[in-house]
Amino acid sequence: MKASEIRNVACVGGGVIGSSWAIQYAMKGLNVTLYDINDEQLAKSHAQMVKSLDALVGHEAIAAEQKAEIVARVHPTTSMEEAVKNAQFIQESGPERLEIKQSILAQVEQFASADALYASSTSGLLITKIVENAAHPERCVGAHPYNPPHLIPLVEITQGEKSSDETVRTVYDFYQSIGKEAVLLRRECPGFIANRLQLALYREVQDLVVRGVCSVEDVDKALVYGPGIRWAIFGHNMIMQMGNPGGLTGMVKMLGNSGDVWLADMASWTHQPDNWSEIAQPGVDEEMAHFPDYVGHTNEECIAYRDKMLIEILKLHKKL
Ligand SMILES: NC(=O)c1ccc[n+]([C@@H]2O[C@H](COP(=O)([O-])OP(=O)(O)OC[C@H]3O[C@@H](n4cnc5c(N)ncnc54)[C@H](O)[C@@H]3O)[C@@H](O)[C@H]2O)c1
Repeated sequence: MKASEIRNVACVGGGVIGSSWAIQYAMKGLNVTLYDINDEQLAKSHAQMVKSLDALVGHEAIAAEQKAEIVARVHPTTSMEEAVKNAQFIQESGPERLEIKQSILAQVEQFASADALYASSTSGLLITKIVENAAHPERCVGAHPYNPPHLIPLVEITQGEKSSDETVRTVYDFYQSIGKEAVLLRRECPGFIANRLQLALYREVQDLVVRGVCSVEDVDKALVYGPGIRWAIFGHNMIMQMGNPGGLTGMVKMLGNSGDVWLADMASWTHQPDNWSEIAQPGVDEEMAHFPDYVGHTNEECIAYRDKMLIEILKLHKKL
């Protein structure tokens, strides 16, 4: 199957991630079925989709009349058969437990067409384990989104030991065709790419604070108003490329021995500090208290500000 032939998508599991995927696919004009275990869960999915779409309307990312069209394109169901029988692409976003993922895949295989592609949103499990008992493991990949998938373009595709090259290529092309930015892990790796990068940086964030070099507020500020603002535009290798007339090669030379001295002084521990939240929570509370009113002083206000800014950045990236 070619990526351009995919018109019918099933989202299996309609929680935080599944509901957001459903909006993503429906916004791109695809026919979506949304499966969950009971009507109560489906009602929650519906409420979450409406809330997300209201935010998009509120920030003028979509027109008000599009909201109803998008919602109407998502067909909720508690019947797995109905959800997957006509699906060409299945996005699984069930609970993060291996035995549940394996049981969902077994149910899907009972009813799905033999050439349907299967992508698991798992954040922490390996696709090779999920497909251990599958009849068609070659059609399955890991496809880890960033929350919320309908806004954040990244999707990390993992090729498991049994995923075929053709499946990986079609899944990759499909995501790209709907405006996602797919990256490919040709081998499985815990934490995939983006979460490993985040955690590597977070180790240094924690270490700088624990060592008394700077406050929680200042380490956040250094990130947001320094590298973070550039990282919203270009990746780290590109930042190196543009940072020196000699390009990345010139920058590596310039960093030279200093870089090695910094690396030797940086954290390398493999267990996060046990008392980190006791240290960091008061720091974060203070940081929120210091924000200007337009950013907000509560979690809810800061989340609304983050989403508004995210939508503006995505518009600049021509992703909305
Ligand atoms: N939350 C995140 O930030 C995030 C980000 C990326 C990936 N993920 C991954 O996405 C997946 C879903 O995470 P979430 O945060 O949406 O969880 P969630 O708990 O919000 O949603 C899980 C949904 O699966 C449903 N469910 C339960 N049993 C099921 C079954 N047998 N078949 C089908 N559906 C079933 C639940 O009713 C619920 O609606 C997980 O694998 C998680 O690792 C989460």
